[in-house]
Amino acid sequence: MDMPVIKPTMHHVNLKTTRLQEMIDWYAVVVGAKVNHQGPGGAWLSNDRANHRIALLAWPGLQEDPEKNVHTGIHHSAFEYDSFDDLMQSYQRLKSIGIAPQVCIDHGLTTSLYYSDPDRNMVELQVDNFGDWDASADWMRTSEEFRRDPIGTFFNPDLVLAAYQAGTPFEQLRAETRAGKYPPANQPAPAMLNLP
Ligand SMILES: [Fe+2]
Repeated sequence: MDMPVIKPTMHHVNLKTTRLQEMIDWYAVVVGAKVNHQGPGGAWLSNDRANHRIALLAWPGLQEDPEKNVHTGIHHSAFEYDSFDDLMQSYQRLKSIGIAPQVCIDHGLTTSLYYSDPDRNMVELQVDNFGDWDASADWMRTSEEFRRDPIGTFFNPDLVLAAYQAGTPFEQLRAETRAGKYPPANQPAPAMLNLP
């Protein structure tokens, strides 16, 4: 058999939860997901034309995992905005209703804000720093800078937002953030590392 791999497109994530409504509400507020179907066993949500992008299973007998951080399995899901402006607007909107990121990192490839959903699943909201998937993928494959430091630079989103609102262009802001001009007040906990 010498058949080519037909590549499917990634379609959805499926999470198990003990707090279905809280999760539905959180994904609605954070990424604009709407319920396309809900039943006793869970809910199926989407924020685009796909029938669902997030499935939430809420079967009886599910248990919290207090050691989620040290267990293997999915680390985070990620959602991408079309622009840095969209990311910053969303940061402001969420902050105004008490939803703040746990950690923010300029990965070189992306500017990424990491949130924690009600079940403590991490959700990355990001923008591609190159604005071009081909360019950022090429940089990931070939850049010595990325090979040396694939994690990147932690930053304080309020400082970055203030600089952006003061008129700093994104290209300059990117470089400054990467260079550590906007450091977070506290160093993130080790469990938060190794994110991309
Ligand atoms: Fe990621």
